[in-house]
Amino acid sequence: MKQTKKIPLDLGKNSYDIFIGEEIIDQVGLFLKDLSFKGRVAVVTDPKVEGLYGSRVKKSLKKAGFKFILIQIPAGERYKTLKQINRIYDSLIQNHFERSDLLLALGGGVIGDMTGFAAATYLRGVSFVQCPTTVLAQVDASIGGKTGVDHPEGKNLIGAFHQPRFVCSDPAVLRTLQKREYRSGLAEVVKYGVIADEAFFGYLETHSKAIRDLDLEKVRHCIHRASQIKAEIVQADEHEGGIRKILNYGHTIGHAVETLTGYRKVKHGEGVAMGMVAASRLAVELGLLHEDDVKRQVKLLTAFGLPTRLPDLDPGDILEVMAGDKKVVGGEIYFVLPKNIGSVDVMKVDKKVLKRFLKALPKYV
Ligand SMILES: NC(=O)c1ccc[n+]([C@@H]2O[C@H](COP(=O)([O-])OP(=O)(O)OC[C@H]3O[C@@H](n4cnc5c(N)ncnc54)[C@H](O)[C@@H]3O)[C@@H](O)[C@H]2O)c1
Ligand SMILES: [Zn+2]
Repeated sequence: MKQTKKIPLDLGKNSYDIFIGEEIIDQVGLFLKDLSFKGRVAVVTDPKVEGLYGSRVKKSLKKAGFKFILIQIPAGERYKTLKQINRIYDSLIQNHFERSDLLLALGGGVIGDMTGFAAATYLRGVSFVQCPTTVLAQVDASIGGKTGVDHPEGKNLIGAFHQPRFVCSDPAVLRTLQKREYRSGLAEVVKYGVIADEAFFGYLETHSKAIRDLDLEKVRHCIHRASQIKAEIVQADEHEGGIRKILNYGHTIGHAVETLTGYRKVKHGEGVAMGMVAASRLAVELGLLHEDDVKRQVKLLTAFGLPTRLPDLDPGDILEVMAGDKKVVGGEIYFVLPKNIGSVDVMKVDKKVLKRFLKALPKYV
């Protein structure tokens, strides 16, 4: 058995550990036992992940002496709805789940966000644990207690803060992800290097090929360091009053691109990759960042097989979507802008400056 690493996340009475290690998905029952948990478990997952990992999780729970039920949600963002949350409630009620029972999210960020939200609201709150199975879910969505669902008017408009009891991240499960899905998740890993840790960014540069090709030893380090950075940021600002906003690096323009391309052509991480490069170019224009630090990001993202140029979109449309974004306060657009690799600032940017910049952006192509 490979070594399991533990990252403690200190949030007072909401504190928990993030466990990271290959094949630890088989130990989830033991982790629960270590919490002195005695209730029943509702495993919430999607058909794809259940087919791949359901039996291992069930076996682990059984071995540790836990009773469980299984709740299946169809895979994909379009099922991240209150309707599906209702289906979870129905199963919990039919099975007489009580306050002392627990939900276990087994899947990507969609399953994690929904399971967490169901747990936050069922009987005014029951415990839940996270077994994230995508890169994005392991380094981002499973950590920090943001849970929720989408509304026809926008993503993640309904939700609650509810911290899990632990996170169980097994890098070995990433092997079954589609290549594009895996690489898209790497954009978030790059993000952590730019916002908080130049040495980690350097590690990604040095080992870019091995990481792209899923060399597990390197990938384990990536998941570990990225989770550590996320944990530190959440610890400093649990409810996103301040510093947690820096996690939005690359997301302002990235979200606009996702929205304008109908969430189909561009994967989330791909939008973030383009958004990070665009935000960095903006930082250069504003005299905050050196051009070389944009080039380093472009080179690394390209090595990971990620796009770095915006598709052909109207600058006015991009601006409009950004202005309608939740992150807009008083009509001004906030941007997370790098000062160098390893540190960023959150700044207001004038809309006129932004429009001029977006119009000029294709000249960098
Ligand atoms: N709560 C937060 O702080 C937070 C942060 C970032 C993103 N999110 C949310 O995360 C969601 C995106 O998550 P995602 O990118 O993981 O997408 P996802 O949950 O839709 O998963 C992507 C696909 O991969 C499949 N899959 C999952 N694990 C697999 C595995 N190991 N092998 C093979 N296939 C597998 C799933 O069935 C699904 O089809 C969004 O809804 C976003 O809002 C939440
Ligand atoms: Zn993201």
